[in-house]
Amino acid sequence: MEKPVYVTEPFLPPLEEIQVYLKDIWKSKSLTNNGRYHQELEKSLCDYLGVKYISLFSNGTLALVTALQTLRITGEVITTPYSFVATTHALWWNGIKPVFVDIEPNSYNIDVERIEAAITPQTTAILPVHVYGNPCNVQKIKKIADDYGLKVIYDACHTFGVKIKGLPVLNFGDLSVMSFHATKVYNTFEGGAIVCHDEATKKRIDNLKNFGFLNETTVVTPGINAKMNEFQSVMGLLQLKYIDGLIEKRKSIARQYRDLLKNIEGITFIEDIPEVVHCYSYFPIFIEKEKYRRTRDELYEELKRHSIYGRRYFYPLISQFPTYRGLDSAQTGKMPTAERVTEQVICLPIYPDLDLGIVEKISLLLRKENVKS
Ligand SMILES: Cc1ncc(COP(=O)(O)O)c(C=O)c1O
Repeated sequence: MEKPVYVTEPFLPPLEEIQVYLKDIWKSKSLTNNGRYHQELEKSLCDYLGVKYISLFSNGTLALVTALQTLRITGEVITTPYSFVATTHALWWNGIKPVFVDIEPNSYNIDVERIEAAITPQTTAILPVHVYGNPCNVQKIKKIADDYGLKVIYDACHTFGVKIKGLPVLNFGDLSVMSFHATKVYNTFEGGAIVCHDEATKKRIDNLKNFGFLNETTVVTPGINAKMNEFQSVMGLLQLKYIDGLIEKRKSIARQYRDLLKNIEGITFIEDIPEVVHCYSYFPIFIEKEKYRRTRDELYEELKRHSIYGRRYFYPLISQFPTYRGLDSAQTGKMPTAERVTEQVICLPIYPDLDLGIVEKISLLLRKENVKS
């Protein structure tokens, strides 16, 4: 039985390093509620990511839900169906109607040319996703938001340290939401954050994630409990120590895949974008079944038989799930690009400790598949 290879594997710092922090936590008995390490991590992340304010969360989903509360978003929000389901669930939890818009054929992000047509008098915001960490067309989205008086909240759960022309992608939009889930480039076991640009907003977010407490006796808003604890925070501090090297390793794996997969008829993948610093969170490939002479699902199953567990991110589309499929914007035929891509995609394993020999093996399987058929 071959050792299974999953789509990702978390980086864990040396156990001795976390034990030093744990001893300190045990001594102080300060486990949560804006503790010392929580404060330290917020500061360190601001420095590393090049952002002004960051508020840490217990996970990305609660950060998304809270981001919408922060800006008091209501009515309809324009979003993408091509994402992890939490993006749209966050709208639903706020009683907001999602309005799905198709994606671009090359970036797989929301198609900026289709946003305006989806705006109604009820639209209050746009919720795009930087899918696979590739930046959305942030300038065009800003222009539309400014023209129509809409807010922009980016789901930046796939990006860590991504920059466009030297500018952190997290600085675009009113808010950006991050996930530090174990499957992400940077993890705090579970975790997340909201990035904002002014002190008043940071204060409102901090109140919202702590039941709405302003001080010991004053509750100013119906908040939730979404705080990051000290255990997660020290994990975050340690991850930061290693992150540059980890992203470098991911980059070399992506390069290796690109090198080995080029010229296979029916397989395409994403190249680096000029003037963008990437974080290589995923390595999606897209199967054109007519040319590859095999469907994506046949390939997916074949890889599984070799203990390679790719993931079909994102299949099905969020708009195809029972909760959302009745919506007008979700109807079949309305988002032809997303409907096509969701049937073609498979994300290959990528993580810092992935052996280049395994990358070669996977690539060979993909090539052999092609020849065999
Ligand atoms: C695009 C996207 N949005 C939201 C989330 C939710 O984040 P979390 O798992 O930290 O709640 C994830 C990942 O899990 C994601 O990939």
